[in-house]
Amino acid sequence: MKPAIEGGKPVREEFLVFGKPDIREEDIAEVADTLRSGWIGHGPKTERFEQMFAEYTGAKNAIAVNSCTAALYLSLGMLELGPEDEVITSPMTYPSTANVILHHGAKVRFADVDERSGNIDPVNVQEQITTKTRAVIPVHLHGYPVDMEAILYLAEYASIAVIVDAAHAIEARYMDKHVGVLGDAACFSFYATKNITTADGGMIATNRDDWAKRFKLLRMHGITRTAWNRFREKGFKFYDTVAPGYKLNLTDLQSAMAIHQMERIEDSWKRRTEVWKAYDAALSQMKGIETPPEPGEGRHARHLYPVRLELEKLSITRDEFLEALKAEGIGAGIHFISLHLHSFYKNTFGFKPDDFPVAARISQRTLSLPLSPALTDKDVEDVINAVGKLLSYYAR
Ligand SMILES: Cc1ncc(COP(=O)(O)O)c(C=O)c1O
Repeated sequence: MKPAIEGGKPVREEFLVFGKPDIREEDIAEVADTLRSGWIGHGPKTERFEQMFAEYTGAKNAIAVNSCTAALYLSLGMLELGPEDEVITSPMTYPSTANVILHHGAKVRFADVDERSGNIDPVNVQEQITTKTRAVIPVHLHGYPVDMEAILYLAEYASIAVIVDAAHAIEARYMDKHVGVLGDAACFSFYATKNITTADGGMIATNRDDWAKRFKLLRMHGITRTAWNRFREKGFKFYDTVAPGYKLNLTDLQSAMAIHQMERIEDSWKRRTEVWKAYDAALSQMKGIETPPEPGEGRHARHLYPVRLELEKLSITRDEFLEALKAEGIGAGIHFISLHLHSFYKNTFGFKPDDFPVAARISQRTLSLPLSPALTDKDVEDVINAVGKLLSYYAR
C-alpha cells in the first residue's frame, strides 16, 4: 500500500497526538474547586500532593517544585560546586540534565550508555570518575530503571553524590524499591507529556531531612514562611530572609491537576502496559524494527515506547520514517538525540560522534510511538497498522 506521504490514503484521518494527557472530569473539578477556593498559589493542595507522592514512593520527603529541571538544579546546588568540579551524566537525555551542571559552574562529563537499555553504563561511569568528580546523575531512560546497585556502589567508593533524573520514572522500581528512595535525591517531572502532569511541575524525593529542609527554603526565596503560612492563620506574620533563594515553587492550581492522577496512577500504568504488550506482540513479528527491552528485575515505568529502526533493512532514514508516520496520522517522538551531537555541546566541548559511539548509534535509530492510558484499542491498532505499512513499503 502506498504511504500517505507519497500520495496514498492515510491510516487515519484524525491526527493521533503524541503524549496526549489523560485528563478526566475529576481533575477538571479539582482545578475548578481551587479556582473558587480563594487560594491558587502554593498551599494545601500542594501539601496534599507532596504527601501523596511521599506515600507512593516511600521517600521520607517529597518537595514540589515547578519543573524537574528546578528539582535537578536545587539538588545539585546542595554540593556547592565550583569550576574545577565535575559531574558525570548520560548524554542520552533531555538537555536540562546536563545544562544544570553548567548552571552551577561545574564541568559535564558524559559516560556512554548501555546498548540494550540506553541507560548510563556503570563501567563507563567508573572510567570517567576522577579526583574532581562530585556527583553522578543517572537517568532512568524511558522509565527503564538504571542499574542502581552498581551506581550506588561506585558513588560510595568514590564519595560522590547520586542525584537521580527520574523524569520518566514515576512508576519505576529497581529490584523491590521505588526509584524515589535511591540516591541522595530523585527528581521527577510533571511536564505536559509525562505520566502524571501538572502542565509543568516537578518533585524531589529524598530521604535526607537536611536536604529536604533546604529545598523547601530555597524554592521560595529563602524566606522563613510561605505566603500560605503567613496568611492562613489569624494575623499577618513577618518573614525573615535567611538565604538567597529562588522562585521555583509549584502552585495549588497545578497540584490540583495531580491529586486524582495520583489516585489513578496504578490503573494508568496497567493500561499503558496493555498498550505496550499489544505493540510488542505485533511489532516483534515485523522486519526492520526492534521492540524495547524489558528490565530483568524491578519495574519499567512505561513512560515511552521506544522502538529502534534497523536502518540497514530499510530504504529510508529515521527522520523520514517519522515524517511518513505523521502523514499516516500518527504523532511520534525521538528520545533522544545524544547531547554530544547537539550544537552547543558539540561546539563548546569539541565532541565528535564517536566519543560516545553507543549513544550516537541509538540516536540515529530511536523512535517513540504513542503511549498513553488515553489511547483506545482502535488508536493502538492504527499505530501498529501504520508502522507495518511503512516497514513493508520501505523494506530493502
Ligand atoms: C530525562 C529528562 N530529564 C529532565 C527533564 C526536564 O523536565 P522538566 O521539563 O519538568 O523540567 C525531561 C523533560 O522532558 C526529561 O525527559
